[in-house]
Amino acid sequence: MGSALVGFGKAVPALVVANETLETLVDTSDEWIVTRTGIQSRHVAIEETNADLAEAAARDALGWTNGGFSERRFDASEIDLVVFATITPDTVCPSMAGLLRRRLGLENAIAFDVNAACTGFVYGTTIAESMMAACAPTSAGATGRNPIRRALVIGAERLTRLTNWADRNTCVLFGDGAGAAVLEWDETRPGIMGSFIVNQDDFANALSSPAAYDAPQPFNADGTLKEVPALLGAAEQGIDDELGVAELVGAGRPRQVLYMDGPKVFKFAAEAMTEAVNQVLSRANISLDDVACIIPHQANERIIKYAAKKLNRPMDFFQLSIAHTGNTSAASVPMALCDAYANGRINRGDKIILVAFGGGFTSGAVLYEA
Ligand code: COA
Repeated sequence: MGSALVGFGKAVPALVVANETLETLVDTSDEWIVTRTGIQSRHVAIEETNADLAEAAARDALGWTNGGFSERRFDASEIDLVVFATITPDTVCPSMAGLLRRRLGLENAIAFDVNAACTGFVYGTTIAESMMAACAPTSAGATGRNPIRRALVIGAERLTRLTNWADRNTCVLFGDGAGAAVLEWDETRPGIMGSFIVNQDDFANALSSPAAYDAPQPFNADGTLKEVPALLGAAEQGIDDELGVAELVGAGRPRQVLYMDGPKVFKFAAEAMTEAVNQVLSRANISLDDVACIIPHQANERIIKYAAKKLNRPMDFFQLSIAHTGNTSAASVPMALCDAYANGRINRGDKIILVAFGGGFTSGAVLYEA
């Protein structure tokens, strides 16, 4: 018995920005971006919010539209849990999960957000599965906890709001979108067979975004009033120091953008991906030979190539969606998963691995039987 993945949906914003457009913004070229990353274009949310994208993806996954891949139509009242993975929420309060719960009328759902950067969907799925395993009422009766039979797990981002459009090292990489999955506790299916999530310290500050809230503060440290309330105080400066961006911010770089040392992240990502795949296989006592395909985080096609080589598998063993999405952080894995269903590459009974890595550092994998 297990948590079966039974519904999938995705949504992207209307605006498509091709590499050629970025050539007019920064000193880059379509040729550089394609050969170094595999990215040709990305979607950028101008009129859509993160919640709009998530709502559209969720409606597909719940079978409320014909746009997704759902084993049946799920009623709003059947959803007991919403886990929303994002690092670019429209709101801090209510949570994005709470906002979605209201929009979709999921009156019985517990709802909360998860920040695990690009590994967010893998973390969210693992959390949902763990809660379902602990809380699903069985034939032996209730568990004494909130009963959770069905969960909606979302990965959604408006990452381009965190993008520094003047920095060619990062702005060519990111895009916006949302993906969603419905999990259902099923005593007749194996569903999720194993998971592995892990953190490592990002000692070298390879990936960070320091700012979160920026209400101007009227007080000095001694309690006297400032003449002009200021956005940046000693505490914020301390964080910037800790993340190693104080000098850049001091030199006028925006605070609320992603800072990244690409080659350092590349090195971490390539190792973390193969490690997570091997760990989840060994936890479930399954060989990679028994797996139909891997749905990896879409950060850079070259990272996937590296993993393919390490795992001794051809590139077509991996779902590749990056060419027209870029890196959409927590949305990347569920969007690629949806593409894999659309391409007809996942059949009932197939064993599938979802794998991701990201800021924090975080990484992890989920193995499930379709
Ligand atoms: N266009 C043209 N040239 C660029 C460029 C761009 N958009 N971005 C960087 N360059 C230049 C660099 O300035 C550097 O020039 P230099 O040699 O004169 O200094 C050169 O290209 C090589 O840069 P480097 O950073 O070594 O390239 P790379 O092969 O490592 O590729 C990334 C850079 C960012 C694509 C790659 O490191 C990467 O994908 N890292 C992981 C990113 C990631 O996964 N992040 C999210 C994690 S969830």
